[in-house]
Amino acid sequence: MYSSRKLRFDDLFSTQYISLFNLETDKKLKILEIGCGPGALAIALQRWYPNAEITTIDRDSDFIRFAKQVAPQISFMEGDATHLPFPNEEFDVTISNTVSEHIKPELFYQEQLRVLKPGGICLVLSSRKGIHIQSTILDDNACEQAFWQKASELDHSLEQFQICRYPMNEAELPTAMERFGFKDVSTGYVIADLTPDNPKFSQEKALEIINANRINDLEAVESVAYKLPDAFSSEEIMNMKQRINEKYDARINDYLVKKKYWDTDAIITMIVRGVK
Ligand SMILES: C[S@@+](CC[C@H](N)C(=O)[O-])C[C@H]1O[C@@H](n2cnc3c(N)ncnc32)[C@H](O)[C@@H]1O
Repeated sequence: MYSSRKLRFDDLFSTQYISLFNLETDKKLKILEIGCGPGALAIALQRWYPNAEITTIDRDSDFIRFAKQVAPQISFMEGDATHLPFPNEEFDVTISNTVSEHIKPELFYQEQLRVLKPGGICLVLSSRKGIHIQSTILDDNACEQAFWQKASELDHSLEQFQICRYPMNEAELPTAMERFGFKDVSTGYVIADLTPDNPKFSQEKALEIINANRINDLEAVESVAYKLPDAFSSEEIMNMKQRINEKYDARINDYLVKKKYWDTDAIITMIVRGVK
């Protein structure tokens, strides 16, 4: 998750984010990130607002441990967004990315309203339907198709962990922010264009894009092995990973010899901004 999130918050797109965040940069902002996951947004915020004091919170101890290793200079804390361990009116800004859909809206917004100073800014980021076109060289073969088919039939983790129980569309999100007491609500969209064959990307960035997809695919296999420990043998898991690595090695080879696929990810992040 970290590699793909790191690209989503790459400095290539910083101007779009900074313009929509519309934060006062001449004072030392106290920013709280809620549901920070592996920490990619917090790390980007530190680059974009070097004078800010950034605190983050997530209930997942594995994410917190990972994030602390990647960015020891940031304060990553384990905790619950519905009972924030901070006094009233502590922060200038609260921010979250793809978290609102997991938390009961009353609790999500009320807690942020409580910890924000008067005039503080609440920024809610969420992923929207973008464009995903995969190069044909990465198509699944029959074995991979069978693996994913079996995994999806057996995997009920979304219901089990109550993930994404409160999804909202592009109109419902700002409506909710207004309903829970924020003023001057505004919306905007950042488009992160990740097209490795586009010459506007350096070779280094193009390979980072391709490899972020490789890591995503490998993590998806690991996640299946973790969530469904009895469904697949260790040999089946190993074969899947080997096949993924071979495909991505071939994709990189083709990139290097300038064989183009124009595969692309155009990731759209909606930003809803409200004032306390
Ligand atoms: C889809 S992930 C997004 C992670 C991160 N914001 C990112 O963009 O990479 C949702 C995150 O919200 C966290 N989360 C969900 N409910 C939470 C709660 N009640 N308190 C704290 N964190 C929560 C999860 O642990 C997870 O890290």
